[in-house]
Amino acid sequence: MQASLVRADGLQIVFRSGRATHVAAQDVTFNLAPGESVGLVGESGSGKSSIGQAIAGLLQPSAGTIDIAPSTAPWPTVQMVFQDPAAALNPRRPVRRLLAEPLEVLSRAMARTVLQGRAVDDLVVAAARAVGLRDEHLQSLPHELSGGQRQRVCIARALLMQPRVLILDEPTSALDLTVQAQILNLLSDLRREHGLTYLFISHDLAVVRHMCERVLVLQHGRVVETGASDQIFAAPAQAYTRRLTEAAQMQPAI
Ligand SMILES: Nc1ncnc2c1ncn2[C@@H]1O[C@H](COP(=O)(O)OP(=O)(O)OP(=O)(O)O)[C@@H](O)[C@H]1O
Ligand SMILES: [Mg+2]
Repeated sequence: MQASLVRADGLQIVFRSGRATHVAAQDVTFNLAPGESVGLVGESGSGKSSIGQAIAGLLQPSAGTIDIAPSTAPWPTVQMVFQDPAAALNPRRPVRRLLAEPLEVLSRAMARTVLQGRAVDDLVVAAARAVGLRDEHLQSLPHELSGGQRQRVCIARALLMQPRVLILDEPTSALDLTVQAQILNLLSDLRREHGLTYLFISHDLAVVRHMCERVLVLQHGRVVETGASDQIFAAPAQAYTRRLTEAAQMQPAI
């Protein structure tokens, strides 16, 4: 078996508000092998984003473990890209600052390898170009960009952290269909070029089929089915997965 880069074991995520508790994930176990793209699908509220946030270290699970294979980089190697790029970007900062600031914070945190002015700017320009932005976009504020361009900024910002794993939480759901296809192609190219591993969260099974070799199907916070995408979409074993695939067939294919 291939060594795993990320291993989630028995994850439980519980939200508490007052006396009420809500279990968003229950006994979720899976591996991500290096270079793999794994889809996480399920209906709204099934726990996809909560699991993604836990893997990205943005949320503490109530039980279970998340092991990420050690790397030579002393910074977090899991980055997350969100559904709504407008909400993820500070509206008052031009793209150049949005991309530079996390790098500057990181380099300050690691006193030995301080990146300064020119070095940061070179990395920012290269990352912007790598995601298909033009140099003049670096001067733009987020609202001066299209939705697709804003998502490219978010992807560039994640890439600048030199991640090994990207958690992509519905990265194209807020975009028009043609722009969706462009961003999906960009993500496929970046995965190949950088040897990235993806956890690709989506309720859109056509997109997942296109992007992922393997799929985890979530229902009410539990993994109810898992396997190769082709196999799951051709012959889903669970009635729940069948319902999801039938709903997807009613939507336009990409
Ligand atoms: N911060 C929170 N506080 C309380 N409950 C939460 C919180 N975040 C999520 N939940 C609940 O946890 C469950 C799972 O939410 P989650 O956002 O992970 O689902 P999802 O599969 O990503 O849904 P969607 O497809 O709509 O994005 C939902 O019932 C949700 O209401
Ligand atoms: Mg979600």
